[in-house]
Amino acid sequence: MRGFRSLKLSLRFVVPLVVALGLLAYAVVPLVDKLTLRWSVRDMDARSQLISSTLKDPLLELLPLGDRQKINRLLQRALQDERLLAVGFCNNEKELVYRTRAFPADINCSSAMDNTSKSLHVINLPQGPVHVAINAINQDGTQIGSLVLVHDMSYIVRRSADTRKYVILLFIVLGVVVSMITVFVAHLSWQGWMEGVRAMLRGEGIIKPFTQPAVASELQPLVGDLKTLLRSMDAERRLADDSTITWSPDTLRRLLHKQLTGEKVIVVSNREPYIHSKVDGTIQVHRPASGLVTAVEPVMRACSGTWIAHGSGTADRETVDEHDRVMVPPQKPEYNLRRIWMTKEEEKGYYYGFANEGLWPLCHNAHVRPVFRTSDWEQYVKINQRFADAVVAEADSDNPVVLVQDYHFALLPGMVRNVLPKATIITFWHIPWPNPESFGICPWREILLKGMLGSTILGFHTPYHCKNFLETVDRYLETRIEHESSTISRRGQLTMVESYPISIQWPPPWLGKTPPVEQVREEIMVSLGLPLDHLLGVGVDRMDYTKGIPERFTAVERMLELHPELVGRFTFVQIAAPSRSALEEYQALETRVRTMAERINARFTSNGYPPIILKSEHHEPEEVNRYFRAAQVCMVTSLHDGMNLVAKEFVASRDDERGVLILSQFTGAAHELHEALVVNPYHVEQTAEALYQALFMPEYEQQERMRSMRALVRDFNVYRWAGRMLLDAARVRQREKLATRIANN
Ligand code: G6P
Repeated sequence: MRGFRSLKLSLRFVVPLVVALGLLAYAVVPLVDKLTLRWSVRDMDARSQLISSTLKDPLLELLPLGDRQKINRLLQRALQDERLLAVGFCNNEKELVYRTRAFPADINCSSAMDNTSKSLHVINLPQGPVHVAINAINQDGTQIGSLVLVHDMSYIVRRSADTRKYVILLFIVLGVVVSMITVFVAHLSWQGWMEGVRAMLRGEGIIKPFTQPAVASELQPLVGDLKTLLRSMDAERRLADDSTITWSPDTLRRLLHKQLTGEKVIVVSNREPYIHSKVDGTIQVHRPASGLVTAVEPVMRACSGTWIAHGSGTADRETVDEHDRVMVPPQKPEYNLRRIWMTKEEEKGYYYGFANEGLWPLCHNAHVRPVFRTSDWEQYVKINQRFADAVVAEADSDNPVVLVQDYHFALLPGMVRNVLPKATIITFWHIPWPNPESFGICPWREILLKGMLGSTILGFHTPYHCKNFLETVDRYLETRIEHESSTISRRGQLTMVESYPISIQWPPPWLGKTPPVEQVREEIMVSLGLPLDHLLGVGVDRMDYTKGIPERFTAVERMLELHPELVGRFTFVQIAAPSRSALEEYQALETRVRTMAERINARFTSNGYPPIILKSEHHEPEEVNRYFRAAQVCMVTSLHDGMNLVAKEFVASRDDERGVLILSQFTGAAHELHEALVVNPYHVEQTAEALYQALFMPEYEQQERMRSMRALVRDFNVYRWAGRMLLDAARVRQREKLATRIANN
């Protein structure tokens, strides 16, 4: 390839040179000769005229005397002009009557005087070319003879040779200079083109005022067309992918092998998918209440690889091997869980402090103020580095596919990128992204953003969160942002920011394995001590102030106020898994929720049937699924939520196509599940009314709505979520490869 390039370079140099020399040989030199001759003849004519007029008067005096000696001497004296070779005088009878000594024998009067043609001016004699001029000598208007002046022209030949030499020299120098300029300009424009094409491939093009254009100006008209083409190809491919692929674990596996050449997947999250704990002296394993785990675990089972997470269980250390790994799921091991350890102090600063007292309230509009402490930040940096080191250690190539999860690891993408520049890093932010003003509260905002921009793909649940992120970066960092292709370029690193609404596995894991709805309902009602015809609502959340649990209880209370006939006929079961209980805000929430439930129950319990049953304990997913199936209505009233997978889990659990979902407009799910009863949880009456409407919704309407929502969750399942990110990552990789290949040419 290098040889080919230098050949091309030499050609660029040699071709202009050859052209210049050819031009010289065939056109310039003859032209210069001709011009020199013409100028010299004109010069000789003028000189001859001058000499003739000088000789005329003495000649007119001497001619009548016929003094041959004197006349010849006069003519001889004229030869003092060094270029004048000979002078002769012809009478009107065309006889050469007087002449200087060396008058050429080849020139005679008759031929000289007869021929008036210009060609006679120059005659080639054996001793060299001469110029012959005939000037009439008149006396009183009558010609008495003619002077013949013969000038030596050999100096013209010499001068012409000299001129030719200099012209050739000049042309060679010019040729070399032009060739070098050509090579230089060609090189520069080639570089410019390459830069331009590379920039286009990186999706760059919109230039901020403070930056230099990424694409050479001569390429600008082309850029638009090329980018449109690339974008439409991308869009078409995405559309084709979306509409033709049925997303399943198998599709995902195939995609990984085909598009990303079968690399092993490394997932990084704070929460681990399986927690080993010691209960009464025995080791038990349980699945945490985490939307992140619910979504990512099936993906991991499909792809296999290694999941790196915090080993937070009391028996976690006892269950790992010497590399801190354990194969999971415990019943059917499919992938490695690599546990990372941290001290209580590290966990306090990194997890409770910076992540959950800082970033969590910062990103959620739930009216809880974020707290930022330097000591927490230091732990956050330290733990991010620890996880990043683990990623590098687990990678078995220099370009692994790393799936980074959530706000616990904003710095990790940058840290991994520093060590593994070729890694495909897909970061998904599971919570909302605030507007630039809100995010600006964070004292370490720039460092966090830079860390996140180490990612190849940066995913959010909704386009709105993407927009907020792009605006935040625009506000606080110097980068190049292309809104059309949703990419950010910083120091040659390209990050694609896209929305990938997260989902759950489909078909649901217990499909066909659970008893029919009627049976489950009966079992649940019995376990709750409620009559079979009792109306049942359900809410399943972590005990978190973003989930709107108090607002939900207020709506239940208001509905009972508005519809007292339902007192003793309706119960709402709230499953609230304890979460982050070490934090004051969470403790305060738990107290508040418990107090509210007691107060409402005290007010509306009838026949021993309370309106609210609060279950503040962990429930395994299978158990949660049973409650979903038993209830007439599920309430999701988050005050702000990235997606809220509970909404989709409820829909997935209802294979009987019954049940109604009440969904907060402030969840990501509300952008997809339009057939839910969408409410503003801050609006008490609206939410209470939606609850009433849900409880008495006709069956056919329930079916219509549920069927449509189930179709959406089926098609837009979690394999599609992961698949789309992997496909986009593969595309970015392809672009990078193409750019590198072009650069090497
Ligand atoms: C949210 C976060 C997850 C987190 C989950 C449970 O869904 O986005 O990252 O795992 O809450 O919270 P926890 O702090 O218990 O892991």
